[in-house]
Amino acid sequence: MRILITGGAGFIGSALVRYLLSETTHEILNLDKLTYAGNLESLASIADSPRYQFVQADIADAATVNRTLSDFQPDAIMHLAAESHVDRSIDGPAAFIQTNIVGTYALLEATRTYWSGLNSSRQSSFRFHHISTDEVYGDLHGVNDLFTETTPYAPSSPYSASKAASDHLVRAWHRTYGLPVLITNCSNNYGPYHFPEKLIPLMILNALEGKPLPVYGNGQQIRDWLYVEDHARALFKVVSEGQVGETYNIGGHNEQKNLHVVETICSLLEELAPQKPSGVAFYRDLITYVKDRPGHDLRYAIDASKIERELGWVPEETFESGLRKTVQWYLNNLDWCRHVQDGSYQRERLGA
Ligand SMILES: NC(=O)c1ccc[n+]([C@@H]2O[C@H](COP(=O)([O-])OP(=O)(O)OC[C@H]3O[C@@H](n4cnc5c(N)ncnc54)[C@H](O)[C@@H]3O)[C@@H](O)[C@H]2O)c1
Repeated sequence: MRILITGGAGFIGSALVRYLLSETTHEILNLDKLTYAGNLESLASIADSPRYQFVQADIADAATVNRTLSDFQPDAIMHLAAESHVDRSIDGPAAFIQTNIVGTYALLEATRTYWSGLNSSRQSSFRFHHISTDEVYGDLHGVNDLFTETTPYAPSSPYSASKAASDHLVRAWHRTYGLPVLITNCSNNYGPYHFPEKLIPLMILNALEGKPLPVYGNGQQIRDWLYVEDHARALFKVVSEGQVGETYNIGGHNEQKNLHVVETICSLLEELAPQKPSGVAFYRDLITYVKDRPGHDLRYAIDASKIERELGWVPEETFESGLRKTVQWYLNNLDWCRHVQDGSYQRERLGA
């Protein structure tokens, strides 16, 4: 297959590109605008592969997307490009509306034009796979409730509302135009190459520098954590074996309170990085409680039984094994982190 991936320089996109190039023989084109979240250093290990190409472009730039589709002739598009950080969506929703809604619309239209021009056998095997989040479902209050593929949408933040809108567009392009789409809604990911503004890397890096570990509210919010490489495997399963028009929820069966996540990171650091910054007796002493995020969802938890039953996917990592690997990865890759923190990952790609 020739697979066009949007957002392949981001956290999950880069894991997917690395996975596809190392575990399959498919050809990959990564189309990414390289916003602050796009980091080509996350793709250094595969950048020289003859099966990999990179195009820097905005998904809303119809001329460039049309040209790329017609030159590359993909058999599938896996659409991950998005603005993805909830806090940023609260501070400035405009970019989220533009990329997640208008950008997805533009990409769907470019794809429809390209797909309409394929012969009938290529039309029927073509796939447009839209990668989305469990945050479109809002939050759960009953302790045993789970999000299923039929849970009504009730997004809380500008981020999740924009992703919900994009999911609706993708479904409509299937119902109205027959575009062969697949949608996946996944829980919180964690793992290597995660941008340091997100909870898990932020806590690891702050702890190593002896800085406070800011926990929102009382830290009792529950998230269902999935190791990013398990997500990449699930995405490949869905794009190659999923039923057209279907939605698959992807989750890790790893519900954890935010405070517990931070405490576990502290315990792992005690073991893996015992040389603490001066003045720090225990990493957990750095935990501080900060004002809760407005509209903060209390609990997310995914029922991933459909993808398990129909496609035979199950996560390989437990929270304990995945978090240990993640903490160790950050300890081994402090240069990657430093380049993000000092902005040099962006200067280098501009040739500065
Ligand atoms: N991170 C999670 O826990 C999680 C969970 C479920 C679903 N998702 C979804 O998975 C996808 C990827 O998430 P992520 O965490 O890797 O995000 P990310 O923010 O790390 O990466 C997003 C990538 O998209 C690129 N991009 C942004 N706007 C673009 C545009 N207009 N045109 C082209 N490229 C653009 C960025 O440069 C970046 O490389 C998103 O759609 C997100 O909604 C994320």
